[in-house]
Amino acid sequence: MLAARVAEIAPFHVMEVQTAARALEAAGRSVIHLEIGEPDFPTPQPVLDAAQRAIADGHIHYTSALGLPELRRAIARHYADHYGVEIAPERVIVTAGSSAALLLVLALIVNRDERILLADPGYPCSRHFVRVREGAPTAIPVGPETRYQLTADLVERHWTSDTRGVLVATPSNPTGTTVPGDEMRRIERIVERLGGRLIVDEIYLGLTYGEPPHSALELTDDAFVISSFSKYFSMTGWRLGWTVAPERHVRDLEKLAQNLYISPATPSQRAALACFEPATVEIVERRRREYEARRDFLVPALRALGFGIPVLPTGGFFVYADCSRFAGDSEQFCRDVLQAVGVAITPGIDFGAHRAKQHVRIAYTIHQRKLEDGIERLRVFLS
Ligand SMILES: Cc1ncc(COP(=O)(O)O)c(C=O)c1O
Repeated sequence: MLAARVAEIAPFHVMEVQTAARALEAAGRSVIHLEIGEPDFPTPQPVLDAAQRAIADGHIHYTSALGLPELRRAIARHYADHYGVEIAPERVIVTAGSSAALLLVLALIVNRDERILLADPGYPCSRHFVRVREGAPTAIPVGPETRYQLTADLVERHWTSDTRGVLVATPSNPTGTTVPGDEMRRIERIVERLGGRLIVDEIYLGLTYGEPPHSALELTDDAFVISSFSKYFSMTGWRLGWTVAPERHVRDLEKLAQNLYISPATPSQRAALACFEPATVEIVERRRREYEARRDFLVPALRALGFGIPVLPTGGFFVYADCSRFAGDSEQFCRDVLQAVGVAITPGIDFGAHRAKQHVRIAYTIHQRKLEDGIERLRVFLS
């Protein structure tokens, strides 16, 4: 007999796409991977060098549960340098990926059956994290009219006496859309007025195109702002992220981190110190421009094929596209496209229930030449 929560946690359908794609590749077929949710770029060389030095120098013991003080200072400085916002380093808590940060913050604020409002479509683990904490994830359907994001108005309309807070992801996975600064301010105000807590998942921080990157920290000291080394710094496997928390909650978050995982990985933390060196910043900014060029190729190409992309994605590395012109069931559509022309894409069902059968997520985490090949294959399939 297993705990009830397990049954309520859905598997990643994208993994099934990946398994099927690998089986095709093993059988000698070529596959264009438009399903992968992590950077194709390697970790920047200065970070790799710093990791090797750290291990050679014996930095392999636990750190403080809050993270290395010098890394917490470096993250705080990053906000000052790039976002013009002064954060006390003591408010920065380094975590095992942003996943651990989300789990810590939810452990801090959610009681059994309390509701956390989230956007549908949205990153699936977020609602599962709420469930693992015995809370009640409450998905609010969102569409192009709100840039696939929650708004203050939606938050107010869905608020109930047992709602504890709101989790906003900007830029969003799967839609790549951001919450505009003035809307984030309205959300923050309404959540405060209703006596709730605001969590902002900024894991794609730094990866925005055609608009300057913003952090909710520019607007408030009272939100839990979560970020990661995974995406902008191409460090998914190092399992390192952070949260900037209101000062009064740091001690309790420390207590939780101590008990749940003791500390984030020490070699990863030492390596991450190199993320803020000019040489690394230059590398990751060059990559950001490359993602932007890929997006600028991909979105018009998909639109020309007949996919519906009513809102231009301005961040992350995903396009959320309406495929209802071609198929009534996006899961079947993904299977058919893979089998017929070897293009792997993710069905909408991974991101919620709202119009999921009409949508697919297409990732631009591959070289532009391969993107072009993928588009050509889709053209052949659709014609
Ligand atoms: C919106 C969002 N939040 C959080 C995460 C978790 O990432 P990590 O734990 O690697 O920081 C992801 C990963 O894809 C994501 O897309």
